[in-house]
Amino acid sequence: MANSQRRPIIAGNWKMFKTTPEAVAFTEALNKRVQGHATLPEILLCAPFTALTTVNDAIKKLNAPFAVAAQTMDHRDNGAFTGEISPLMLLDINVRWVLIGHSERRQYFNEIDDTVAAKTVAALKYGMTPVVCIGEELQEREAGLTDRVIEQQVRAVVDLIAPSELSKVVFAYEPVWAIGTGKVCEAEEANRVCKLIRTLIAEYGPAEQTRILYGGSVKPESTSALMSQSDIDGGLVGGASLDPDTFFAIIEQACLVKA
Ligand code: 13P
Repeated sequence: MANSQRRPIIAGNWKMFKTTPEAVAFTEALNKRVQGHATLPEILLCAPFTALTTVNDAIKKLNAPFAVAAQTMDHRDNGAFTGEISPLMLLDINVRWVLIGHSERRQYFNEIDDTVAAKTVAALKYGMTPVVCIGEELQEREAGLTDRVIEQQVRAVVDLIAPSELSKVVFAYEPVWAIGTGKVCEAEEANRVCKLIRTLIAEYGPAEQTRILYGGSVKPESTSALMSQSDIDGGLVGGASLDPDTFFAIIEQACLVKA
């Protein structure tokens, strides 16, 4: 049984999928599935920018127990940065959660630890909850560098955060080799790394309230083993979050072990 002081989070990262009608249909379908479930985790829908407002409106209309999250943002308030979206713009459309430093952002859009840290600081400055993604690549794991990579990624962020803010940051351990590959990290090993993250945070201040998620090929079948670990407080789900039935099956499994 996980630490009950930390409310679990199940987040669906839709990546570059779903038009607005598809996003609304998903929200309606998932809302039907969760009816009658008293103790749900926090459920996040990380929609593309173009669907954030539509999904937020649907959540409001349905009174659904979900929140939207953006998949990235810039760390600056405004400026000549063509194509970027600022924290102020997200707040303007009532988006209060944001993924930061997803490995696909690091891999394809040149995000590095410094920008990830700056974005995390910006999110906190505006009262948003950042979900900071970290994780090692396959070559790093094979070279025995996992813990060193994780340490560097955690310290880059936590170095800039006041101890009183540590509980407001959510971390997501997403080993890059497990993302979209069907290769889920063994639950005990995922927990070991999540525990390492918590131990590192604890060097800077209280870490018991900080929620740490696991992501990487999470499926209904793997949810129970992952979520019953002591230091895994939820899941960040990619491919399996695109279908409401599959995503709900993950939520249901998480409820069974975390309730
Ligand atoms: P998959 O669940 O498709 O492996 O994706 C994980 C992920 O990147 C979530 O952010």
